[in-house]
Amino acid sequence: MDLTFRQLPRHIAIIMDGNGRWAKQKNKPRIWGHKAGATTVDIITKECSRLGIQQLTLYAFSHENWQRPKEEIDYLMTLLRRFLIKERKTIMENNIRFNTIGHIHRLPKTVIDELDKTKEMSAKNTGMTLCLALSYGGRMEIVDVVKKIAQRVAQGEIQIDDINEEMCSQSMYQPGMPDLDLLIRTGGEMRISNFLLWQLSYSELWITPTLWPDFNEQELHKALEDFEKRERRFGKVL
Ligand code: IPE
Ligand code: IPE
Ligand code: MG
Repeated sequence: MDLTFRQLPRHIAIIMDGNGRWAKQKNKPRIWGHKAGATTVDIITKECSRLGIQQLTLYAFSHENWQRPKEEIDYLMTLLRRFLIKERKTIMENNIRFNTIGHIHRLPKTVIDELDKTKEMSAKNTGMTLCLALSYGGRMEIVDVVKKIAQRVAQGEIQIDDINEEMCSQSMYQPGMPDLDLLIRTGGEMRISNFLLWQLSYSELWITPTLWPDFNEQELHKALEDFEKRERRFGKVL
């Protein structure tokens, strides 16, 4: 597949939705869809890396997803652990740097250990950043930023007037995260579901009815072909 794009997003984020519906269509339990979805993660990670995308951020488990049935959460955690072990090969072979955003401390210890191992192992890689949003909530991230900055004010380290957008960006879970250029949501829902609220401010949006386990390189290219036609004005007159 040798496609060239005139304008590629530097940072793509994906709300990987529709695993449950995909399984239901096949009369299988929801976890079947999650398992298939993990394969899509590997395919899309490789393709984004091959295309030279700077960062890929994937919404894997939201703060609100803790409200799902215990059996589904347990399965997702087991799947995540297995995925991390398996994905290390892809990560290392493609020079990918791995990180996470979210309340990682809420995850099972066995998962945290694998996350740490993968981060450590890939820390010196210089290619694409693969960031998994886990136990992540956009509003919670903003609350955490407010707390961090308020503490600095309380300690007399900074003045209220020193607070600006740059300082807020640098206080997010991933300081220096490149601005989001393209948000993709699979599964067709026209909503943000508490993802990257701060970072989304001028991101382009691409929502496809395709369910996450059916998403593939061709589907990604459709989003990228559309992205290259977008005129990004950032409020200005061009
Ligand atoms: C997305 O698929 C995966 C997670 C939220 C972990 P869903 O499980 O939300 O699938 P649908 O939306 O019910 O089809
Ligand atoms: C968003 O999907 C979260 C992830 C993809 C991890 P959800 O399925 O949880 O979102 P809602 O409930 O449809 O908004
Ligand atoms: Mg869903």
